[in-house]
Amino acid sequence: MAFAYFDRKGALRSVLAIALGSMTLMSGTAITVAQDAPAVFTSAQASRGAGLYRQNCLDCHGENLDDGEFGGAPLRGVAFKEKWFENSVGALVDFMHGTMPPDRPGRLSDQNYVDLAAYILSRNGIQPGAAELPTDPDALANMIIK
Ligand code: HEC
Repeated sequence: MAFAYFDRKGALRSVLAIALGSMTLMSGTAITVAQDAPAVFTSAQASRGAGLYRQNCLDCHGENLDDGEFGGAPLRGVAFKEKWFENSVGALVDFMHGTMPPDRPGRLSDQNYVDLAAYILSRNGIQPGAAELPTDPDALANMIIK
């Protein structure tokens, strides 16, 4: 189930491309659509995420995010980037919400999951900015990790 997310972006893109193509043909005018935005979070949000991470995730994923004791996959480094960068923040948040922590997925609040995403992105070298990651799923789906 988790792996459906990786296909979703590509599929959505194709549908959008087709829809846009036909709309342009029909109307003959330029249409403005929501653009992919970069993922932006604040350092305060990443700090909140760090606290949540320590309480809920650290045992399995480790202090350094790639040195956990109980088989948690690395949350930073090359493999993580290959999987999640160029994908939407929404995909990452959905994955965490649906599967983490494994004993009780979805136990944390929506706000907690985006704060955790902010922390994980910050530990993957993305610099904090002026706005927090929102909880709105549509907005998250349009924010690309890069
Ligand atoms: C009991 C151990 C455990 C705990 C606690 C745990 N995880 Fe995980 N986590 C895993 C395992 C095992 C995987 C690999 C699962 C898979 O590949 O389907 C994983 C995978 C992930 C992934 C995907 C990594 C990747 O690239 O595939 C993310 C993101 C993640 N966990 C975040 C979290 C967060 C955030 C928390 C805390 C809320 C958390 N996990 C708590 C064990 C754990």
